[in-house]
Amino acid sequence: MVKKLKVGVAGLGTVGLQTVCQLLKNREQIIQKAGVELALTAVADPQIDSDRKAMLDNQSCYSDAADMVEQEELDLLVELIGGVDPAGKIIHQALNRGIDVVTANKELLAKQGSSFFELSRKGEGRLRFEAAVGGSIPIIRTIREALVGVELDSIYGIINGTTNYILSCMADRGLEFDKALQEARHKGFAEADPTADVEGFDSAHKMTILAELAFGINISPDAVYTEGIKGITPMILEDARQLGYSIKLLGIAKKFNHRVDVRVHPTLIPQKSALAAVTGEYNAVYLKGSQLGSSMLYGKGAGGPSTATAVISDLVSLAAQKTNSTPAVYYSWEKTRLLPTEQLVSCYYLRLSAVDRPGVLARVTEILGRHHISIETVIQRGRSADRLVPVVLTTHEAREGAMQAALEEISQLEDIGQTPKFVRIEEGFEQE
Ligand SMILES: NC(=O)c1ccc[n+]([C@@H]2O[C@H](COP(=O)([O-])OP(=O)(O)OC[C@H]3O[C@@H](n4cnc5c(N)ncnc54)[C@H](OP(=O)(O)O)[C@@H]3O)[C@@H](O)[C@H]2O)c1
Repeated sequence: MVKKLKVGVAGLGTVGLQTVCQLLKNREQIIQKAGVELALTAVADPQIDSDRKAMLDNQSCYSDAADMVEQEELDLLVELIGGVDPAGKIIHQALNRGIDVVTANKELLAKQGSSFFELSRKGEGRLRFEAAVGGSIPIIRTIREALVGVELDSIYGIINGTTNYILSCMADRGLEFDKALQEARHKGFAEADPTADVEGFDSAHKMTILAELAFGINISPDAVYTEGIKGITPMILEDARQLGYSIKLLGIAKKFNHRVDVRVHPTLIPQKSALAAVTGEYNAVYLKGSQLGSSMLYGKGAGGPSTATAVISDLVSLAAQKTNSTPAVYYSWEKTRLLPTEQLVSCYYLRLSAVDRPGVLARVTEILGRHHISIETVIQRGRSADRLVPVVLTTHEAREGAMQAALEEISQLEDIGQTPKFVRIEEGFEQE
């Protein structure tokens, strides 16, 4: 019998709606993976209009999260209201009642995190906040769990997608700040009021949280030296490029002389460094420690879907602890099977050595066509010493089985020297 935990979501904005959506859509998958049911029983938002109602089943609806926490017998609360007040009071209320809380609220955690951590240590309710820093990047869990035995020396983070997008546009296309900001807004990477991002406050909130976790330092984000990107011009970026550097809005937390140095400001970093390759709306956190060497986590920093994914991951982890269930690593293994290689679908690079005689290429393309493989490009290279002409082909997507059969036939052709060489092409990477 699968145990069922009651979940309430407070705040149905960008992240809240995505969380509700993923909880409802992936209900079965979560049961299979986590061995526990996360039953969304209540939601709270001042405006549960018809669009929001349409996404829900028969959950109880509240206009204020405090009432939901008071009246529902929740096991888990998701706080996605944002800001310090009333979010802070609602989290306190829940933790005091023994309800476990998941939040993405970086501002609140940066300003009052230690009081919540303390309460969570003392009280019944536990607090998780993976979504507060780095969206889909599991940086909190990495520092708290995976690297718990590692003494970190420094953390460098590109942890604000808006400013990274703006700086990338300015560096790559010479756009002025205002134009780049306009484009970021248009693409949904900047909010209507981008002050917190552009001035570096959002990064300072996140660095405060990371510094506290990694180095145990309890500071206010106001104490973090913070400088935004408004002073950066295309000319400065070009100067940096000529010197072999990129400019990033970097959050830095590092040990120095028995102290911890925490800052956020535009920074020149070597163009060849891994962090310099983090462009557009992407985030990355680079960690250094004596036993660790260096390690970097990279991914989409914000946005409803990736932030909701981190929220759900926290819910699953809390639920597993609460019910002593073990997440199934080999979930649904009896239904999931390995794809036979011949059924693989891929594009291919193909290199043949053909005798320089009319009709050879036509015979090759006829064989490929018969196996339903269409050619994307053909390049004929100069004749080699053995009078064979190298021909390089790339194909559109084709089945591996068909490709292998075609290659077998092609290699039997009299006019083909050497065994054809082929390499699979993988196109599924996001590119700038
Ligand atoms: N958006 C992102 O990509 C992202 C990424 C990482 C972390 N986060 C964090 O996630 C949190 C939520 O962000 P968001 O972008 O989803 O914010 P949002 O779109 O502004 O949504 C917040 C929602 O909470 C509602 N609300 C206000 N007071 C409430 C109350 N007392 N009870 C219940 N609901 C209440 C708001 O209603 P009204 O609008 O009517 O006031 C609004 O619908 C924030 O802490 C943010 O920093 C966001």
